[in-house]
Amino acid sequence: MTFRRTKIVATLGPASSSPERLEQLILAGLDVARLNFSHGTADEHRARAHLVRELAAKHGRFVALLGDLQGPKIRIAKFAGKRIELKEGDSFRFSVTHPRDAGTQEVVGIDYPDLVKDCNVGDELLLDDGRVVMVVREKTADELHCTVLIGGPLSDHKGINRRGGGLTAPALTAKDKVDIKLATELDLDYLAVSFPRDAADMELARRLRDEAGGKAWLVAKIERAEAVADDAALDGLIRASDAVMVARGDLGVEIGDAELVGVQKLIIERARVLNRAVITATQMMETMITQSLPTRAEVFDVANAVLDGTDAVMLSAESAAGEYPVEAVQAMARVCLGAERHPTSTRSSHRLGHTFERCDESIALAAMYTANHFPGVKAIISLTESGYTPLIMSRIRSSVPIFAYSPHRETQARVALFRGVYTVPFDPAAVAPEKLSQAAVDELLKRGVVKPGDWVILTKGDSYNTIGGTNGMKILHVGEPLV
Ligand code: G6P
Ligand code: MG
Repeated sequence: MTFRRTKIVATLGPASSSPERLEQLILAGLDVARLNFSHGTADEHRARAHLVRELAAKHGRFVALLGDLQGPKIRIAKFAGKRIELKEGDSFRFSVTHPRDAGTQEVVGIDYPDLVKDCNVGDELLLDDGRVVMVVREKTADELHCTVLIGGPLSDHKGINRRGGGLTAPALTAKDKVDIKLATELDLDYLAVSFPRDAADMELARRLRDEAGGKAWLVAKIERAEAVADDAALDGLIRASDAVMVARGDLGVEIGDAELVGVQKLIIERARVLNRAVITATQMMETMITQSLPTRAEVFDVANAVLDGTDAVMLSAESAAGEYPVEAVQAMARVCLGAERHPTSTRSSHRLGHTFERCDESIALAAMYTANHFPGVKAIISLTESGYTPLIMSRIRSSVPIFAYSPHRETQARVALFRGVYTVPFDPAAVAPEKLSQAAVDELLKRGVVKPGDWVILTKGDSYNTIGGTNGMKILHVGEPLV
């Protein structure tokens, strides 16, 4: 039985919120539904969250919910005529005092008081994901005077970045704080923090989540130049998070598209080594917003992320606002499966040369070593409280599926993000200890995953319900009486 290992995150929006569409997305292989708090009302997100859970349950599927905070994206204000057209060589000004709804061909307001302080003459500013580029020629007390280097249309509320990063808005805005409460109310499984600069931003998010009473695992979106400035900065941010996202849109604008290639590989590798999950995002199937098939280049982009070792690939506008959301999920599923047939997807060096930090990590990695070297092993069963043991396991490349056995709703949904990990609802405490192995294997027999003669690895701890307690591994022969 071949399971797709790489998971699919799809953003929900107007194109994917009707019950029919959502059901099709779930059947097409949606693993994580993303609620983008930059768009839509709280009520729209509530309705989507409830529908996803209801429809997933109807089909016996486990779909995690990820809320994505808007963060301090710095944007220009509005134009009197909605949109202007800039040509190379034009002069243009950004003003912190200009009326917010009265931009002209020469000047537009901006809601970022520190803009002038944070920018210097000679800096390059990138508007609308880099479609329009300007250089700062002069600064006054409340304005930057620029010359257009690359022209194009500019319309209301487009984003602004500085080449090289360093616009220093705090990562959590007043709106984000309200949305953290909404995430708690909806019991979301993941919460993505936009534009974190360093570990302190993630720690603040964690504190706010705790104060709100939420349990969502935190995802750091890597999208600022500062976050990838050196190895220590990146590792610090990853360690302060439960998962990370390669947020290629803003990141590419700040560091340039040529740098992005190596940085994606580095982020994925560091996330895996540090036992964190990782999502690769932005423009993966961009042309599917209006076309029913991806381009060859998009096929290879998704495939390369799979070969890089990402846990999940993500759809943004393709599924939120595009014409072919279901086809986009189907295309991703197909391409992931294809890429996973390539040996680099399943071959692992097992962290040779690394030392392990924890007992459960040692068992998890020993299980993977065994699974990859003992050909009879067809599945791994990991009894887990929080999902942590299967997370560590899935940091190792393998073609053997990992089944996370847990009685908890949160864990059952959470592991949907992890590469090669699948949920089996199971309460070890409800089975007599000497019947546990048999009961666990029976779940896989029932699902047709294994047959008599196969080998299965099972990991657990001495006591039930202990996070971090995994300290044992068994190798079980299916078909023989198991104790
Ligand atoms: C289940 C098992 C325990 C084990 C735990 C590990 O509760 O019954 O024996 O200690 O999972 O959970 P973790 O969240 O660390 O993967
Ligand atoms: Mg972004």
